[in-house]
Formats: sequence, C-alpha cells, structure tokens
Amino acid sequence: MTSQQIRKQFLDYFKEKGHLIVPSAPIVLKDDPTLMFSNSGMTQFKDYFLGYKQPKAPRIADTQKCLRVSGKHNDLDDVGRDTYHHTMFEMLGNWSFGDYFKKEAIAFAWELLTEVYKIPKENLYVTIFEGDASENLERDQDAYDYWKTHIDESRIINGNKKDNFWEMGESGPCGPCSEIHVDLRSEEEKALVPGIDLINNDHPQVVEIWNNVFMEFNRKADGSLEKLPSQHVDTGMGFERLCMALQGKKSNYDTDVFTPLIAKVEELSGKKYAGILEDEKDIAIRVVVDHIRAVAFAIADGQLPSNGGAGYVIRRILRRAISYSYRFLGMKEPFLFELVAVLKKEMGEFFPELVKQEKLVTEVIKEEETSFLKTIEHGLKRIDLIINETLSRNEKTLPGAEVFELYDTYGFPADLSRIIAEEKNLTVDEKGFDEEMEKQKQRSKKSSAQKVHDWVILEEKQEVFVGYDQTEAETYITRYRKIENKDGEFYQIVLSKSPFYPEGGGQIGDKGLLIPSYTEGFDIANPDVFDITNCSDVVEVLETRKENNLIVSLIKDLPKDAGAVFYAKVNTADRKNTQANHSVTHLLHEALREVLGTHVEQKGSFVGPDYLRFDFSHFSKMSEEELKLVEDKVNAKIKENIALQEFRNIPIAEALEKGAMALFGEKYGDTVRMIQFGTSRELCGGTHVKNTGEIGYFKIQNESSTAAGIRRIEAISGDKSAEYFQNLELQIKEISALLKSKDLAKSVEKLIEENATLKSEVEALKKEKAKGETANWKNDFVENGGKKLLVKKVSMDAGSVKDIVFQLKKEVENAVIIIISDADGKPMITVGVSQDLEAQYHAGNIVKDLAKEIQGGGGGNPGFATAGGKNLDGIENAYQKALAL
Ligand code: ALA
Repeated sequence: MTSQQIRKQFLDYFKEKGHLIVPSAPIVLKDDPTLMFSNSGMTQFKDYFLGYKQPKAPRIADTQKCLRVSGKHNDLDDVGRDTYHHTMFEMLGNWSFGDYFKKEAIAFAWELLTEVYKIPKENLYVTIFEGDASENLERDQDAYDYWKTHIDESRIINGNKKDNFWEMGESGPCGPCSEIHVDLRSEEEKALVPGIDLINNDHPQVVEIWNNVFMEFNRKADGSLEKLPSQHVDTGMGFERLCMALQGKKSNYDTDVFTPLIAKVEELSGKKYAGILEDEKDIAIRVVVDHIRAVAFAIADGQLPSNGGAGYVIRRILRRAISYSYRFLGMKEPFLFELVAVLKKEMGEFFPELVKQEKLVTEVIKEEETSFLKTIEHGLKRIDLIINETLSRNEKTLPGAEVFELYDTYGFPADLSRIIAEEKNLTVDEKGFDEEMEKQKQRSKKSSAQKVHDWVILEEKQEVFVGYDQTEAETYITRYRKIENKDGEFYQIVLSKSPFYPEGGGQIGDKGLLIPSYTEGFDIANPDVFDITNCSDVVEVLETRKENNLIVSLIKDLPKDAGAVFYAKVNTADRKNTQANHSVTHLLHEALREVLGTHVEQKGSFVGPDYLRFDFSHFSKMSEEELKLVEDKVNAKIKENIALQEFRNIPIAEALEKGAMALFGEKYGDTVRMIQFGTSRELCGGTHVKNTGEIGYFKIQNESSTAAGIRRIEAISGDKSAEYFQNLELQIKEISALLKSKDLAKSVEKLIEENATLKSEVEALKKEKAKGETANWKNDFVENGGKKLLVKKVSMDAGSVKDIVFQLKKEVENAVIIIISDADGKPMITVGVSQDLEAQYHAGNIVKDLAKEIQGGGGGNPGFATAGGKNLDGIENAYQKALAL
C-alpha cells in the first residue's frame, strides 16, 4: 500500500464514522503566544476544548502537518540519529468534542488498525494511565475495561504520567491517554525478547504509533488542574510510522514517504544510502530528507527563515541540514533546493501549497544555502586562526568563548569547530563554551521573561468586538490577569464589548482610554462634554492583542473598581491613519499584481499610523518605472473615491468565488469577512476607510529585498504623506533661498562644476607646496652604517605623501622613509624602502608594526606600504618607535 493510499484510508474510515474531514491547519501559528508551531493535530482545536469556540462539527478527522522543534515537544537532536523521529511529520487524528468518549475511540482505533489496515493483533500492545497520587489522579480503569474487550489483558500495560498523561504545553488542555504500540521485529527476535519488555524503551522496531488522549482537564498557569466542562477525545497517529508498519519496513526512511527524496540526494551527492544507524553519511542523508520537509512546508505556509522567533527555528533546521551535508556528504554547493521538486511531486496532490509556492520555496532555500555556505567558508578561516593562536601559546584546548562567539555571532556550527579541532589533535574547552551558552540563555531569558498569572474571571461571557462600527462603547471588564515582565507589572483585561482593534493581519492594535463611570463629573450618557485632561481615574489602554479567541488590552494599573462600567474610547487619530494605510495596502497589492504579475502574493505586512510595510513574492528588483506605475495606479483608485463594500460572515466558498485573495499560511474559518474596494477583494479582519478618498496621497518611500524572492515596499499615506510633501517643499524653499535661484537643478549643476574646478586647483597647489616643503628632506636622512633613515611627522594628504615617498626612493639610495601624517583628522603611516634595501627591510612589515600604535591596519609590498588608523593620539608613539628603527 502506498503512503497516499494509507492516508486516504484513514480519512475514509473516519468519514464513514460520521467525522467531518478538514484540511491541515498551517504549520506556523500566528496568534498563539504559548506556541510557535502546530505540534500536534489538536493545536488548531485548542479553543474547542477550552470552550472558547464552538466546533464546526462534534466529530472531526484530518491529517495535520506538525513540527516538534521547540518548546515542550522538541525532537530536533534525535532526528537523523534514529529511524523514527522527525522534525516535520504528519499526524493523523480523529476528534470528538463532547461527543463520543473512551469506549468508541478505543473501538474505532482497534477496528481501523486490525480490520482495515490488517495489522496482526499479536503485534499490538496498548498502554493505559496508571494514575498519579501527587496530582490526585486515579488509574484509568475505564480505558482498561474497554481495551480488554478487544485485546488480551496481558497486552495492556500501565504507563506513568510522563508517557500516559498528555499535555499540549506548560498550560492548556490535557488528560490521560492510551497509546498503541506495534512490534515490527522478526519472529526470531520476538522469541528472544518479548515485545512487552520493549514498550517505551526506544527500540526502533517496537514503537508507539497512535495516541488516544481523553481530554478532561485544563492545566492552568499556576500548575493546577481544572476539570473541563465536557469530555473530549484527541488522537494522533504518526503517519510515517504507520507507513513503516504497513509497508513492512524497519525504518520510516525506507518507506515511500522518504525513498524518492533519498534517491535524489544519492543522485546529487554521488553517495549511496545504506540505512546504517551510526554511519555519518547515512545520518546526514536522513537529516537532509527530514529537514527539507520541515523547511519547505514552513516556507510554503508563509514562514520565511529569519533571525528571530519561528523564522529562526526554521533557519536553524535548514542550517543543520546544510552543515551535515557539507561535512558528511561533501556538498559544498547549494543542492537542497533541488529536493523541493521531488517533494512537490510526492506530496503536492494532497498539499497544494507545495505546488503553488514551489518557486518561492526553491528560491528561498537556495539563497539560504548560498549564504550559509559562505558563513561556513568564513568560519573555517576563523577557526584556523583560533587554532594557530592556540598552538602558538603551546596549548591544546581552543578557548570556549571563542568557539562560542563563532557559533553565536557568525552562525558557525559548534560541532564543526569540534571536528576541525579533533583533526588537529586539539579539543574545545567545553566548560567555557557551556558557560557562554548559559550566559546567553540568561540574557535572552531576562529580556523576554514574562510571568503570566491566572485569569480572574468576573463574568463568563463571550466578548464582542464592536470596533468595525464604532470607536467608543460602554463596556465592563469580564476578566483580568496580572503580568510581570522586564518593564514592570501590568494588567491584561478583556472587555464585554471592545471597540479596540486587536493587532492582527499586520494591523497594529488600538490604543485608547477607559473612563470609569465613577469618575467625578463624568456622565456616561454625555461622554463628550467631559474633559479628561489630568483626570487620575482615566485608564490608558497601552496596546490590544488577540490571544486565541480573546481580545486582550494592556493597562498599567487595575482601576479602583474593576467591576465598574467604563466608557471606552479608541485613539481615533491613530486609528484613522492606520486604516488609511490598511486600505491602501489592499490597493497596493492589487496594483502590484497588475504591474508585475499574479505571482505577487502578500508575504507579510505591517500597518501602523505612520507608515505601511508590504512584503511580497517577486523575483527581481522593481524598476523606477514599475514603482511609478504602481504608485500612479493606487493614486488613481484613491481619486475615484471608491466606497468600501464590507461582507461580514460570508461563507468562505462564496468569498473565493467572488475572487477574494486568500493567503497561504492563514487559517480561515468557514465564514469570513471580505473587504472590497471596486475590483480589489481580500479576506481581511482589519479596519478600513469608508471611501478610498480618505486615504489621501499614496507615496512609496522605499523598495528593497528582505530575503530571496521577497521584496518589501515601505510607503506612507494620509496625514503622513501630506507632512512629507510639506517638509519637502520647506526644504526646497530653504535651498532656493540659499542658492538665490528658482532653477535648483541648474544651480546645483553649476555648483558641482565649480567645486570640481576648485578641487583640482587646490590639489595642484598642495602638491606645489609639498614640493617646496620637502625639497630639503633629502638632507634630513640619518645615516647609520651606510643605511639611511628618514622619519617625518606631517599634516599632509595621502596623495602628496605618496608622491614624495616615491620621489625620495628614486633619489636616495639605501633608504628607509617613514612618514607619519594626519589628513582630515585621520592618522596614517606611509613607509618606503629603496630597492637596494628591499631584501633586508619589508615596508609592509614595518607599517604593520607601527600601525598598532594608531589602532590601524594596512600593508603593502616590500618597497611601499601604507596603514590608516583610528587613534590620532598614537601618532607620537608611532613616531618614537619609527625613530628607534
Ligand atoms: N495530542 C496527542 C498527541 O500529540 C494525540 O500525541
């Protein structure tokens, strides 16, 4: 059975059992502060378990792209070294939201594995939760009783909290679980050691394939468990392991999920994969074929490699693959990008994002490879230097701090440093390295550490966002919690009705005010007559964000009476400018697609009150004409004063049919909001102008590249572009006044010409003057044993000094000339050695030594050398040193 058939059978089975089949959620999470990536099938359903959102159906099944490379579930270091861990893997799952529970879940799992997939029953074992006294949790007797109707009791094993109580992260939904393990060993091996002894023992052929979690609890931030309002089922089956079991293989890498990728690596590297566990070449091939999937899927879902957050995790995975293939496959040129086409061929049918984004994914990976390979080359040079310095000190251990710096600042893998050191019979000071690593961790922990307390719930209420229609509202706080971070203590609040837009879709969150109803002199029925200046009761809203399904506003101090009624006011000046920038972003997107082509797709955006930033896929720099055309098109739409058409809660299919742009990597619900300005239609949750005329003039300020295949436009509109043109005019007026001219271009041209003439006249004069001054220098040489030395301290430009040195070299025999000069505040040393002394003196070496005094560097040939420096105060020392030569 092929992997494609295996996936299909799973989904067909659960469809038959009344489950709604849904697509995989994006691999990268956008609005969950507790998690960067989908790390299991249930991630996208978290809100259903917590009761924040109603599920689409009580029974759901899917295959989910997962990534376990950070946080609680992190398998990265194992990948490649064994046969069954992966960075990215598919998790097949079925869910019940308050519908069926243990009995049915267990029956479904058993029937699918043994009747549909026909795994021999005698190869299966199951585990159940043994209970945990410290948490007051009992043994899962129900699961045991249901299992024993299917499987012999001798095959049901108790498991501890670590293995059989599943938790999504440090907090969140959790519950006891039952795992199904399969024994894939030969009969001879089974006769030697019974399978039951190998469960949860890291045996590569006795592995867990399916986890059935019975969600009953929520782990709170303070560590305690609270019972969920209903009981749910969450299951996850490792697709790649299932393929191994059903295809009769001993390693996930021998299944057709990986073999086409391995074949391509073999072809490109000329190395054969032998499937040996400890073999470095085989480890590297496993690393490569595993990592390319994680990276390609993440990029296709909109997460580009970068220097922070999720982007950094992706970059590290890719770099791990590059450094393994560099070391063990001898791949010194980019090649990973060529695997994308294979991946597309194998998986593109089920995951169309790979087909649509192929070009971008390929380009981005190629560019990352090119630049990291340069880093490796550069790092190799530096490590050589570190080695030489260590040897010159007669030591055998490379300083940990230097190896760490190489890793931390230059991105050079520490493993590689170790191997190179070993080749020279040296070691790395691991203790020093670890200490630096620890210091670094503490530094970043300090800057990002945030303690979040549990919510204090004042009222269980579904909040409403009213900010599309109004910027003021009467409201009250439904929950609040304290947070502590490096900036101090703050409170997060959730309002019954929020006019504050929560940051999302690139648009910055609203700021504003909350006026408590108890404020003296404030009449909530007449809010506008009240003057808030200097009113100490007013609460400032510092920012607003979305957390899962809640709109969370940040305030400094909790108001005196948190239970009061408040009058909420959005900062409308900022909001107006922000929404002008948001609406114009849509127009820009459309214009770019018209001018450059429909390969242009949004890859990121920032929309704030002062400016907008728009990242999009495009493979070359935009020309001035293209930029102008785009700007003109956008401004034409603004002038047309097109009215906003907003469609709230329309079915996604309808929006797509109307031609709405949907973005890869965004999670859309069944119903969506569509924003239309004439022909521009986008799925969008942001706030917008009512008519494009409100946007004002649109001005592109910069076009640049952020990564391979990604361009960035920075632009302004509204008040800011008016301000921009006013400033420009002011500057022009000032310049006109200075030049006393209206034709600026002509006047400046004239100035440049005059300047050039003056410059060359000055140069000529300087040379003349220098000649005069130095005419007698010939007589200033100090002679010693037939050799002559001239040392001079002068204030002269580099060109003149050079001329003089060459002149003297010609005229004086057996001479060493050292001129220490400062020109325009920069110290400089010039050394000349006449030809007859070149065998004894080397101008380059002399200059290098002297340059230390002026904190400079430079060099040259035996006859002539120069060095520039930073330290003017060092001139005297350099002079004395030169005299002593
Ligand atoms: N959520 C469970 C897991 O990831 C099924 O194992």
